Amino acid sequence: MQLGAGMSSRTDTRHESFLLTRRALGRSFALGTLGAALWPDDAASAMQAANPAMPPRLIRIGANENPYGIGPAAAEAVRQHIIVANRYPFDMASTLTETLAKFHDLPVDWIALSPGSGDVLRAVTMTFTSPARHLVGAAPTFEAPARIAEMTGAPVKAIKVLPNGQLDLKSMAAQAAGAGLMYVCNPNNPTGSIVSAAAVADFVAQVRKVNADAYVLVDEAYSDLVDDPSYGSATALIKNDKRIIVSRTFSKIHGMAGLRVGYAIAHPDTQNILRRNLPSGNISVTSLAAANASMNDPENMKKQKQLNRDTRAVTRRAFEKAGFTVLPSEANFIMVDIKRDSREYQNACRQAGVLIARPFPPLDTYARITIGTAEEMQKATPILLSLLQTSPHPTSASAQAANFRAMEMEMPGYPACC
Ligand SMILES: Cc1ncc(COP(=O)(O)O)c(C=O)c1O
Repeated sequence: MQLGAGMSSRTDTRHESFLLTRRALGRSFALGTLGAALWPDDAASAMQAANPAMPPRLIRIGANENPYGIGPAAAEAVRQHIIVANRYPFDMASTLTETLAKFHDLPVDWIALSPGSGDVLRAVTMTFTSPARHLVGAAPTFEAPARIAEMTGAPVKAIKVLPNGQLDLKSMAAQAAGAGLMYVCNPNNPTGSIVSAAAVADFVAQVRKVNADAYVLVDEAYSDLVDDPSYGSATALIKNDKRIIVSRTFSKIHGMAGLRVGYAIAHPDTQNILRRNLPSGNISVTSLAAANASMNDPENMKKQKQLNRDTRAVTRRAFEKAGFTVLPSEANFIMVDIKRDSREYQNACRQAGVLIARPFPPLDTYARITIGTAEEMQKATPILLSLLQTSPHPTSASAQAANFRAMEMEMPGYPACC
């Protein structure tokens, strides 16, 4: 079957950015640069050097990845553990679980590992929604739970975020009667906004007034990047409420999106129910080793947070100075009102060598831009701004419909996008 033009260029891009030649990998190990350097970049540079006809590399600021790669301790752990890749990683999974339990000050049976937090979202949604038990979420928010709910035939009630990008928790709680699952993404992807710990506690109290059975899933994928002192993990609530689940990931501050590690935090009774759908034994030796080492490297986490904070502030200022509204963000991306159709803008950016995120209806005139390295943002920002110099035109109804369709195609069968 012939692939459509859009699909083939998407595949090329991924291939181009991700493919790690054996030679490049070997050289990274030999030089001890793995992790300290950005190894996919090394690989792409090596490929480019070997093939001058290859088009210049794209700047990837569309998938909320950590542009600095895994930290030095995690990289060293990968290097050391590759030689035990012939063994099943039973003990290593226990070690990581213990590390995480200690970090969250909880017993080990409150933690369930998974290959990425996308799998936690999938398991939770599959387990607790059904055609008779709807999902309540936001619009826009991370799409995975709504996607899964749609696949299982569960109705989805998506409540539009407030004008500042915050979740409208009051209106979401008003949809709780009869719900199977309430999804709270905090910070919210794609808006970047947070809701306070007190607001989440109040939300749960409101939900419980009308629905004692609904599960509440609080997705804290970006929590490690938050500065706002009013923010707090919902793990503080789970001791009093068996039906709250928190999901976390190593894909963001730990820079391990390609290694696939995430986890669910919940009461053991809830973990037992979830176990039916959560593939917790599927994490590789190297991923477990890296995750454990990264948890024990708080200096790296501090450094990553600072780098993100600084570059985000510079990027925000550049867009604001040019007259564009940027939503408040506590995450590794910003949401800019570009005052024009975001799908067209995304395509124009791609043509100009910069990959930004897909559209997030109903915010059709907003572009989500991931914070890359300072150097990447220095290169990308003038390009992104130059493409905003033409006069804006509003998103037509047909363009909005096309955005929804394109979104469907962009993540075929794989809800854990970014
Ligand atoms: C809010 C949110 N939750 C979950 C995920 C899934 O992440 P992963 O499966 O890499 O842990 C993402 C990915 O970007 C996300 O943005």
